[in-house]
Amino acid sequence: MINAAVEQGTIDRHVYGHFAEHLGSCIYGGIWVGEDSEIPNVRGIRKDVVAALRAIRIPNLRWPGGCFADEYHWEDGIGPREKRPTMINTHWGGVTENNHFGTHEFMDLCAQLGCEPYICGNVGSGTVREMQQWVEYIASDSISPMTNLRKENGREEPWSLKFWGVGNENWCCGGCMRPEYYADEFRRYQTYVRNFGDNEIYKIACGPNEADYEWTETLMKNTLSFQKDQHLMKGLSLHYYTNYRQSATEFDESAWFEVLQKTLVMDELITRHSAIMDKYDPEKKVALIIDEWGTWYNAEPDTNPRFLYQQNSLRDALVAALNFHIFHEHNERVRMTNIAQTINVLQAMILTEDEKMVLTPTYHVFEMFKVHQGATRISLNLESNDYTFGESSMPQVSASASRDSEGKVHLTLSNTNPSDSADISCDLLGLEVSSVSGRVLTAEQMTAHNTFEKPDQVRPVDFEGARLDGSNLSIVMPAMSVVVLELV
Ligand code: AHR
Repeated sequence: MINAAVEQGTIDRHVYGHFAEHLGSCIYGGIWVGEDSEIPNVRGIRKDVVAALRAIRIPNLRWPGGCFADEYHWEDGIGPREKRPTMINTHWGGVTENNHFGTHEFMDLCAQLGCEPYICGNVGSGTVREMQQWVEYIASDSISPMTNLRKENGREEPWSLKFWGVGNENWCCGGCMRPEYYADEFRRYQTYVRNFGDNEIYKIACGPNEADYEWTETLMKNTLSFQKDQHLMKGLSLHYYTNYRQSATEFDESAWFEVLQKTLVMDELITRHSAIMDKYDPEKKVALIIDEWGTWYNAEPDTNPRFLYQQNSLRDALVAALNFHIFHEHNERVRMTNIAQTINVLQAMILTEDEKMVLTPTYHVFEMFKVHQGATRISLNLESNDYTFGESSMPQVSASASRDSEGKVHLTLSNTNPSDSADISCDLLGLEVSSVSGRVLTAEQMTAHNTFEKPDQVRPVDFEGARLDGSNLSIVMPAMSVVVLELV
């Protein structure tokens, strides 16, 4: 049943956020090709990729890492490119980083995309001063050494800067810190992440890995302001990957089931971390920000395993849909997420090879689900059969409903069962609707995926399986599918 009269808060558009790290060919090749490239570009940034990401209304982009962030020294990435020093990207294949894509290029990318920048500062190997000066360089309009330096480098106006991460995975690649130690470091670093003019920064503390509840407890307990009246951060991050170190495209039903089952763990993680946060922040002022999520398989054969380049199948589309439905359920606390990663790395939206580009099944889910961005979640109660495999089961159908600013209601659904269709009957309360239309993403094979040679193996097509009968909506979803419906 959909009960449109029961509103359940906003689905923050930032739940549909992205993450691009200096890793493999995410930045270099995937986004940045340089101004002299024959690949069509605007100031060195690929046109095709920008157009594709604008089409899914990318709301924000996290950069420069990831583990890379805590090794990155921003001053190396400004000024004339030919004079920028190089560094070794020790985490990701030991390759030489030429720093050609730095702060100006990233801010230009965000402007071209029309999205908010989310920069992750370096706590692990950086200094407080370095972080302080980076924020000043970007956001200050006062007369100051950093403002002058920015102007010398060609940017007169400060940029608007909203999201700022104080370190990444500081429990591991960001410095192997204990939560008590990081909490103190967070307190110190964040003090100097200043608001310049009316630019107010939304500070995000490094949160737990998966089920590390002690980290959340310690952080929430130890990050109150001096007056003890508020937390020093607006967001606490959580990282959870659907980790399954096997092939991305060669698998059977047991691997299909296991990957989807591991994805559903996200719900328990959010529930339990949120419960801890509730103890210290009952008004839910601090958001839980899942700024790394997605599938992590073996890298494609014959590629550098440290470049984390993997294909993306219909199974990944289901993973994305399940995750979004979980995020929507927790919209009171989960106000931003970032899939890892946008291009050519892990559960990517887009794969590129020189001038070629292909959109993955995951991209299509982002495109279909964009109707939920900023919409009001409305009550939805669906009873579903289980999908059983061997001794284990999971719900066959997951779904979300929302109403957008024009009053249109959207319903998204996923059917996890690779063999059986799902018959759904849904009563519509508090809704006057006269038509239903929709699209479906599915394929003949669970391993179906898009390649440069066959880019449209998995793509949304018109859906004919929904019928309105008075105030009842009946839906017949094909096996292993994702559906979006619009009710007007
Ligand atoms: O997304 C790849 C890596 O996974 C990130 O750099 C790191 O934060 C996480 O461990």
